[in-house]
Amino acid sequence: MFRTDVIQKIIDKKKALRYLEIGVNNGDSFFPIEIAQKVGVDPSFAFSQERKLEWASKNPCDRTV
Ligand SMILES: C[S@@+](CC[C@H](N)C(=O)[O-])C[C@H]1O[C@@H](n2cnc3c(N)ncnc32)[C@H](O)[C@@H]1O
Repeated sequence: MFRTDVIQKIIDKKKALRYLEIGVNNGDSFFPIEIAQKVGVDPSFAFSQERKLEWASKNPCDRTV
């Protein structure tokens, strides 16, 4: 089981609506999480605009700042 699976199970069990990830790096754990509203903060994101846009098309509520 991956770390994202554990996070997703907690979100689903609690019926959580919002997810904040501090320290997103390449987005491997941020992007796959499915939730109504998601925000990621990082002083130095390590993913391309293309990857961000690819995931944004799957989850338009994603925000990375
Ligand atoms: C180990 S990586 C995060 C991995 C990611 N959470 C995951 O599970 O794939 C650490 C990240 O924290 C970021 N970081 C460092 N200091 C930070 C700060 N003060 N606030 C937010 N992010 C920070 C770094 O830029 C780096 O991208």
